[in-house]
Amino acid sequence: MNSRFLVISILFPLAISPLAALGQTLVEQDQVTQVQVQLGTRKLREISCYQGKAGLGKAQSDSLLRFTPLSKKLSWAKKRFGEESQKARNLKKLARLGKKACRQAQAQSYFDSERFVTELGKSTFEIPDSLSASVDAGEEIYLQYCTLCHEPRVNRTFSEYRAKIALPPMNFSEEEIDDQTLADLTAYLNRLRQAS
Ligand code: HEC
Repeated sequence: MNSRFLVISILFPLAISPLAALGQTLVEQDQVTQVQVQLGTRKLREISCYQGKAGLGKAQSDSLLRFTPLSKKLSWAKKRFGEESQKARNLKKLARLGKKACRQAQAQSYFDSERFVTELGKSTFEIPDSLSASVDAGEEIYLQYCTLCHEPRVNRTFSEYRAKIALPPMNFSEEEIDDQTLADLTAYLNRLRQAS
């Protein structure tokens, strides 16, 4: 048994009841992205992003972090101090800024500044490693081939697109839309989703 699994299996039963009551979970540190948001004019707060949610993280060990979603913190503060309390108002602002920052961080981890898909993005969208995938090239291809019949179908992987577009009435063959073209298209259609 690997040691990380051992740590989790020991910690979990101990931690799960009080943690769960507060909406907290133990998560692997490497699944969490840290971002900073500016609260006042000077104050920077560190926010943890986990599975698209903004929260506060506290290290529990080298590999584990205790994650509390800001939405949970906010409802706790409303109940404890009242909707209009300073504490609830601050948390509300923090939750809003955190959500935005986490969404941007996620998009940034999938796309670089030139709007190409990163390695992480490629593995997420299952684009073959050997291909580059450009959002801007994908947009051109989309406009050329895909606008006639329906709204953009976002959030599919490379091979899902390959399978779907082969169906009638689309009937796009691998000659017409080759792998490089499909990689760009997959980049564009997944970027659309991130942006929305
Ligand atoms: C000739 C019309 C037409 C064109 C052009 C077209 N599609 Fe489609 N597409 C359809 C139809 C019809 C369906 C099946 C019914 C539906 O899902 O609306 C479909 C379904 C899909 C689906 C599956 C939807 C699902 O829920 O699984 C995807 C993905 C898709 N199209 C992507 C594309 C992409 C990418 C392009 C451009 C390369 C494209 N389509 C161009 C007509 C078209």
